[in-house]
Parts: sequence; C-alpha cells; structure tokens
Amino acid sequence: MHTGSGTSHAKIIMIGEHAVVFGEPAIALPIPTIRLRATVTPAAHGQMVTSAFYNGSLAAAADTNFVGIATLMRQLLHNFDAIDQPFVLDIVSDLPPERGMGSSAATAIAVVRAFYDAFGAAIDRATVLRWADVSEHIIHGNPSGIDAATASADHPQWIIKGQAPRPIASLHQGALVIADSGIQGQTRAAVTAVTRLREQDPDMANTAIHALGQLTRQAALTITNQDVPTLGKIMAAAQVHLRRLGVSTPVLDRLITVADAAGSYGTKLTGGGMGGCIIALTPDMATGQHVAQQLEAAGAPQTWIHDFGANDDQG
Ligand code: PMV
Repeated sequence: MHTGSGTSHAKIIMIGEHAVVFGEPAIALPIPTIRLRATVTPAAHGQMVTSAFYNGSLAAAADTNFVGIATLMRQLLHNFDAIDQPFVLDIVSDLPPERGMGSSAATAIAVVRAFYDAFGAAIDRATVLRWADVSEHIIHGNPSGIDAATASADHPQWIIKGQAPRPIASLHQGALVIADSGIQGQTRAAVTAVTRLREQDPDMANTAIHALGQLTRQAALTITNQDVPTLGKIMAAAQVHLRRLGVSTPVLDRLITVADAAGSYGTKLTGGGMGGCIIALTPDMATGQHVAQQLEAAGAPQTWIHDFGANDDQG
C-alpha cells in the first residue's frame, strides 16, 4: 500500500423529489465545486480515521454514524487481502452532513477511490457505485442510488426509480444558489408524510405528484433549450406542489420569499424537505451573489453558488 486519494462532490435534486418515489422522474445535479477528498496513508500501526464527522479507530466506529463507511472500508481491505494493514484515512469535506447534499454517498465514493488508488488498482464507475451501495444500504436502508450516481458523475442525472440513472445535458447559463436553512433535513419523515397524505387524500396527493412529474419533463426540455427564465418558473411551480404535499416549512418558505425578492427566477426546496436546503435559479453570478447575501442576512447559515456558465467541461 502507498498513499492514495480520491475525490467526489455534492449533489442536489433540481426537481422531482418526492414524486420520484411514486414513479415520476427527477433531475439531480452534481455540484463539482462542493468537494470531498479522502486520503489514505500507510501507517506504522493502527487503523485510524480523521474527519469532521468521525475521529477514531476503525474498530471503534461500529457504534457510530460512521458504521456504514467503516464496514465499507473493512470490505475494501478484505478485497485487497490487507485486512490488518495499518493506515490513516483523512477525509476533508465541504459538504454539510444531513442537508440533502449526499454527503454519505460522496464519502463512500471518495473512500473507495482512495483505497483503490492506495493499492494501485484501476476502478470503473460501475464498480465505484457497487461499493458505494455497501455503506449506503447500511446508512439509508433502501437507497435510491441517486446520491451515489450523482456524486460520481459530471452530468445532471435523469432518475426514474428502478432504472439506471441517465446523464442529460447541462445548463451553460445562469447560477444556482444553494442555501442551508440551518435545520436538518428529514427525508424519511417527509417521505412517510407524503405516503400518509396519499392514503388520506389520494386525489390531491396524486394530482400534485403527477404535476411534479410533468414539471420535471418540462424542466428537462428547458435545460436542453438553455431557457433559464422558464426553468425558474417551473421550479417555482414545483415548490407550490411540494408545499401541498406538506414537505415545506415556514423557515423554507421564508427563505424562498427572500430569494424571489432578491432576483431569483424561481426558488424551491431541494431533497426531502422539512428542513435542509433551498435552491434559487438566478440569471448570472452577480445576481446569485446578491441572492446569497440576502439569504444569509435572512438567517441562512451557509450558501453556495454554482455557476452554470462555468460548465464548459460538462457537455
Ligand atoms: O433528501 P435527499 O437529497 O436524500 O432526497 C430525497 C429525495 C426523495 O425523493 C424525497 C426521497 C427519495 O428516496 O427519492
């Protein structure tokens, strides 16, 4: 073993969250500027991890939130016939945990790439995704695979449940502001709430779900056409349906109002909701920076701006 490193990045769901659970499409975006890097270095003794979310030995990770990644690491060592190899794994991440940005999948991908690099082995994307599934299963129970597919991809992903994610064209204009509400997202509770609503008021819930599916199909067309203003309107319309499904909150709604007033073409929650992040589509970086400032002034603890104009390498 020698020193090896691997990287990955954040993902956000642009549109289609929740409806995707019931068979409609969703679009997930890689955010390559919000990065995560794992570096594994051979050591004299011990098997240690240093990171913002777990510091300690591999053995002691069993009862922590890190158990999924720890299990993955043990299987990787086994794969390389190096179960007792002493090492230090260092993870440096710009992704906030539990904000719907896919931090667990991004960690898994970077760790897999780092171990393959450390053992001098090449790895293709399908193999990376198979490995990431080991920890994602432990962490999320029944992962859709959206996070891992997008955290390892360069292109937006078209997601339909039960099908392999498909890359689609990227936007080359506009800037997307991502703002953390400061409240942990509650994907599991939100999915349960929508499922319950669908039992209690099937007409209303199904209408919203189908409308979200239609909006996602329209969003894909506007991305192909590079029609940023219309995409903004579609995102705003999706937020109305997400609110009907009960997954928005007053805090998210307030941030959305602030972004819209500051020049967003359209703003919505992203991911599971009931907390987590919002996304605002703006015409350019200058407007994006203004929107981000206003969101921070309104209480968002952290914002990021993804410049679609810098998407030269993304097709
Ligand atoms: O909160 P996230 O980014 O993990 O996204 C959840 C997306 C849902 O559609 C609400 C659930 C799912 O499994 O697709």
